[in-house]
Amino acid sequence: MVACTNFILFYRSTTRRRAERVKDEINFVEGLFREDAEREVRRILDLACGTGIPTLELARRGYHVTGLDLHEEMLTVARRKAEREELSVEFIQGNALEIDFEEEFDAITMFFSSIMYFDDSTIQVLFNSVKWALRPGGIFIADFPCWYYGGRDGPIVWDERKGDERLILTDWRVVEPAFQKLHFKRLVQIVKPDGSVRAFMVDDELNIYTPREIRLLAEKHFRKVKIYGNLRELRPNDRRYWLVAVK
Ligand SMILES: C[S@@+](CC[C@H](N)C(=O)[O-])C[C@H]1O[C@@H](n2cnc3c(N)ncnc32)[C@H](O)[C@@H]1O
Repeated sequence: MVACTNFILFYRSTTRRRAERVKDEINFVEGLFREDAEREVRRILDLACGTGIPTLELARRGYHVTGLDLHEEMLTVARRKAEREELSVEFIQGNALEIDFEEEFDAITMFFSSIMYFDDSTIQVLFNSVKWALRPGGIFIADFPCWYYGGRDGPIVWDERKGDERLILTDWRVVEPAFQKLHFKRLVQIVKPDGSVRAFMVDDELNIYTPREIRLLAEKHFRKVKIYGNLRELRPNDRRYWLVAVK
């Protein structure tokens, strides 16, 4: 897990790209609420909500949303954004593995590959807690990427302006095929207008799942499970998948 202090800076640095995509994602998710959920969706729990990018978009569309995240620093940013927009969202600090809600939500979401934090055993705990927290006919939605098992990737360099600062991100993705682990490393360099540089490393270990593995794991806990592709039905070359599971 990434150290807390760097965590918030790391996600701030990816925020703009994430915000650009989120409207399309929530359009897709609302389609899933209509097509796949077996009850009307009004109350949503957004697990691993981070700084609230999808949480707030759901709230803007009139859903009653609770966001939960492990890191208080992320929630501080999320609460500030909600306040600025006068959106009423409850943000709570907690571990997705320790939630003890009982049939309180019509939908539970987990966006932006957050499901990759959970390994073979903790993902079972997660699915079980999610099932308890959902009302009958409620829906669980989580997206996750395809990672090729090609070994070393990158580095990929992003160089962009943020106000009067320059932000240079250098990403490496190292895959361990035998263990289906992804080591994500990012060097963040912030170049100030006076030329001074603030730099730090972020290092995270994530779990790789294929769509079939996720489906088989989820089928142990949910009545109906479907895998979608990149904001549509699954196609052979899709590189992002959406797990949709109904209680
Ligand atoms: C990739 S970010 C996704 C943030 C947000 N869902 C989004 O779409 O922008 C992953 C988030 O998962 C949170 N997280 C990781 N493990 C968690 C856990 N066990 N319980 C709750 N949150 C967790 C991290 O704090 C981080 O905010």
